[in-house]
Amino acid sequence: MSDQQLPPNIKIVEVGPRDGLQNEVAFVPTSTKIELIRRLLNAGVTHIEAAAFVSPKWVPQMADGAQVLREIGRRDGVSFSALVPNLKGLDAALEAGCDEVAVFAAASETFSQRNINCSIVESIDRFAPVIEKARREGVRVRGYVSCVLGCPFEGEIDPLRVASVTAHLYRMGCYEISLGDTIGTGTPLKARRMIEACTKHVPVSALAGHFHDTWGMATANVYAALQSGVATFDSSVSGIGGCPYSPGATGNVATEDVVYLCHELGLHTGVDLSALMEAGEFISTSLMRSSSSRVARAMAARHARRVS
Ligand code: HMG
Ligand code: MG
Repeated sequence: MSDQQLPPNIKIVEVGPRDGLQNEVAFVPTSTKIELIRRLLNAGVTHIEAAAFVSPKWVPQMADGAQVLREIGRRDGVSFSALVPNLKGLDAALEAGCDEVAVFAAASETFSQRNINCSIVESIDRFAPVIEKARREGVRVRGYVSCVLGCPFEGEIDPLRVASVTAHLYRMGCYEISLGDTIGTGTPLKARRMIEACTKHVPVSALAGHFHDTWGMATANVYAALQSGVATFDSSVSGIGGCPYSPGATGNVATEDVVYLCHELGLHTGVDLSALMEAGEFISTSLMRSSSSRVARAMAARHARRVS
């Protein structure tokens, strides 16, 4: 696909408040989570994964999801979502007023066991009543497939396994399937092959790219996915994050970097990059670390040169 044929409108799913913060060891105050989301809204972000209704014994950082969602409240034109591993999580998400929920499976057996304590098949069985109930309640369900371009325990993952789990989730009623390069080992050619395997079963419009940036390939993978026709990307502001069950993995591709790439390609995201940078500065300062976004760092350096 040439650049003239890339999807013109890009949906950015900001996962920083969940994927970004879930891995923080020190508890991030609820007020910081809420302020981060407010700033993301101010930047025009309309899809925000704000919480995870998972076991607080497994992921203590996400224990305050209900309070975060309650205090933010629902907004016209904005979809707040949360991860739910089972019916208990779904009920909590419905109670908290989520617009959307996400179930999360894996293409790797070992990762599935480590992350949600069951096999891939068991997870799919467990998701069936969750998807059914959510849809009955008028809440859309997204599906994740982790380890689509490599597993921290099993290494290479066959694209056909990814396609099979993706097809299952789609047939069960997930409106969108997010393809997670959980450990960030993917490269553009592998990403394209994996997406091609999935599009044999699921329309490309129902696929999302979820690239972690461990090996620095995430924006290259976003570009490869765009060329395959994918128009939805998950990213986290400032590139924060990692997965507690994926040793060595770093954060998602930075939202600033995806937005900059898309805008430079003439694609529309609806996100204001300057306001997004402010949200990134806020969370980097709160976490007492520098931004992982190359674009944010370059823009800050340019700004500093101009004022000196
Ligand atoms: P388990 O221990 O097998 O489940 O965990 P259980 O049913 O035996 O429950 C154990 C305890 O957890 C019980 O409490 C339950 O009530 C409670 P106790 O009786 O001991 O006091 N519990 C819950 N509490 C709150 N909310 C719930 C819930 N469910 C049970 N929903 C379970 C199984 C799935 C619950 C657990 O493994 C879990 O919560 N895992 C979540 C792990 C997680 O959040 N991982 C990170 C997200 S995935 C990711 O980051 C990848 C992604 O970004 C994409 C990518 O990058 O690839 C999405
Ligand atoms: Mg992730």
